[in-house]
Amino acid sequence: MQHPDLFGELPPGESAAAAPLKPPPSIPERSPAEQAAELRTSLHRYAHAYYTLDAPEVPDAEYDRLFRELQALEAAHPELLTADSPTQRVGGAVLDAFAQVTHRVPMLSIRTETDTEASGAEAFDTRIRKELGLTEADPAVAYVGELKFDGLAMSLRYEGGLLMQAATRGDGETGEEVTANIRTIGQIPLRLPPDAPDVLEVRGEVYMRRDDFEALNERQRQRIAAGTKGEKTFVNPRNAAAGAVRQLDSGIAAERPLSFFAYGLGDITPANEGGPAWATHHDLLMQLKAWGFPVAEQTACVQGATGLVAFHQRMATERDALPYDIDGVVYKVNDLTLQQQLGFVTREPRWAVAHKYPAQEEMTTVQAIDVQVGRTGKLTPVAKLFPVFVGGVTVTNATLHNELEARRKDVRVGDTVIVRRAGDVIPEVVSVVLDRRPPDAPQFTMMSHCPVCGSLAEREEGEADHRCTGGLFCSAQRKQAVWHFAHRRAMDVDGLGDKLVDQLVDSGQVNTLADLYHLKLENLASMDRMAEKSAVNLLDALEKSKQATLARFVFALGIRHVGEATAKELARHFGQLDAIMVASEDALLQVADVGPIVAHSIRTFFDQAHNREVVQALRDAGVTWAEGDALAPTEMPLAGLTVVLTGTLQSMGRDEAKDKLEALGAKVAGSVSKKTSYVVAGTEAGSKLDKAQSLGVPVLDDAGLAVLLNGEKP
Ligand code: IVH
Repeated sequence: MQHPDLFGELPPGESAAAAPLKPPPSIPERSPAEQAAELRTSLHRYAHAYYTLDAPEVPDAEYDRLFRELQALEAAHPELLTADSPTQRVGGAVLDAFAQVTHRVPMLSIRTETDTEASGAEAFDTRIRKELGLTEADPAVAYVGELKFDGLAMSLRYEGGLLMQAATRGDGETGEEVTANIRTIGQIPLRLPPDAPDVLEVRGEVYMRRDDFEALNERQRQRIAAGTKGEKTFVNPRNAAAGAVRQLDSGIAAERPLSFFAYGLGDITPANEGGPAWATHHDLLMQLKAWGFPVAEQTACVQGATGLVAFHQRMATERDALPYDIDGVVYKVNDLTLQQQLGFVTREPRWAVAHKYPAQEEMTTVQAIDVQVGRTGKLTPVAKLFPVFVGGVTVTNATLHNELEARRKDVRVGDTVIVRRAGDVIPEVVSVVLDRRPPDAPQFTMMSHCPVCGSLAEREEGEADHRCTGGLFCSAQRKQAVWHFAHRRAMDVDGLGDKLVDQLVDSGQVNTLADLYHLKLENLASMDRMAEKSAVNLLDALEKSKQATLARFVFALGIRHVGEATAKELARHFGQLDAIMVASEDALLQVADVGPIVAHSIRTFFDQAHNREVVQALRDAGVTWAEGDALAPTEMPLAGLTVVLTGTLQSMGRDEAKDKLEALGAKVAGSVSKKTSYVVAGTEAGSKLDKAQSLGVPVLDDAGLAVLLNGEKP
């Protein structure tokens, strides 16, 4: 939803005064001041529900209507305008420079633990215990584990419950006043509940979510493409957030969606005598949350070094799934009395430490953009990078997917780029640092001919990908076809690696898939780095692979759009290869999961004589499988069930469980949704188990799986 209080936009043709609501005649007229106060209260509540609780109470249109009503009222009665009015979130004020703010309580930084391993957490606990004079006999110290948000520190000053001033950290003593920009952040309360202290400074981090960052950069790229002067893309979310906060024109800041997490306190003058009503850092965070500030839900109370290490490890795995960047975690001593006792060294508290994770983003340069040819002829531009260590591995390649994508990101040879590798996801180029682009760097264009075989490269209407039209004439496609055929989940030929396939195809020994089964020991032994023992093993593996299943064989053929699941459905539906080979597109459409594109692709494959010849040659070479009768899928005992497997099962591997379930007609899916019938969870089950529980999907253990495999529904 785009509330006008954030974006300052009204739908075209609607004026602010479009829908003034007249109270029904039976209700006495309220004064404009009363109306404005009521509107503000409702809007505050709805915005809090939307931005902070993530649980909208009213439809966007209702919010927009009330918002315009308040705008109209304030326009008619300027004396009613207050600093906390939601209408003040749109931005508008334009400054010449930021005013300086002296922090009444300095904004400190935290020491960073340089050891990124778990032992870094232990070192912190050891130091704390020593400082506190604790011995081994004393109990574990209580800590709070927090995320280390990758944004910029902000101090929010509330006086009499109203947000009066927002200031950056600056040098810790003096920062810059950025109140107008900070008001545009929907998650930051403009007014606090009545029980809040008279003066309250909340410290926290302003940041930008990854999806907001990507949408912003996309908008910026469009502006640059449209020739708007002075626009640029941002290097990462932190950089974009910092740019937005330091905008002199708050209208521009309002267009750049920011978020906020609270993690501490600055100046405070309790409204009630007796001081604050919290004894621990965690209690303080819960109080801030109750006053309407976002506090990260991952924040946890933990005990001693073991608790810190566990927190560090848990967040390392959760990190990739967070919608925003963190660069580590922060540990804080929970007890405020102990914090006081520990005190500070220069500008850093002894009671807190930042424990970082390895960086997920690094800068490097593009040496070249190569085009690779895939199994089905797809041409993929790949950025060849100056090697860079990121996300725990050295990255030298990043796919640019296709010409459109390469142009959308506008990656050019010679560019400095930001490369991201998060978790096991393949590395990607996030953005180009345009300031560093060498002059005359040419825009990327896809070549008109295949770089391997020279055949014409074509892009079909409505498709993003270019393809080599050479088919199996193209040695790149031949290599990939052989490699795919031998894959573990296809014909499962152990020992037929990429390098060997390259040699076999390049030397002309393997021109079609069937040639694999005519290889002789002497041919193989003459290949580079091929010992006789491995050659014998490979021939054995080839021999063994001849005993296939229909599903594996169909998958192994490498028909475009026919993945493993579709191959299984085809085998189940038709029972016999000949039936698949002659099936019309209409007949193919009867198969579960087969749509027009897949049906067309299968028909086209078998319509080509050379493909039918390869199938025949493979059969002649001795490749066989058990053929059955077509089985109506609904007759199978587990037909209609969708099962998700997660964690480590005791009774069998996940692949085996999958094969067995599918043989009984169940579908095995990779992610949990409302349509999932069962989740089978072994030990160390993670987010899929959580999701099942939150959606109320039944969860089975090994015993439950055994019942399913008996063909019964538990
Ligand atoms: S506490 C007295 N907690 O990291 C301790 N800082 O140098 C003050 N940061 O500039 C900071 N996440 O912007 C704290 N959960 C967290 C944090 C955090 C990010 C930033 C903060 C500060 C820097 C530490």
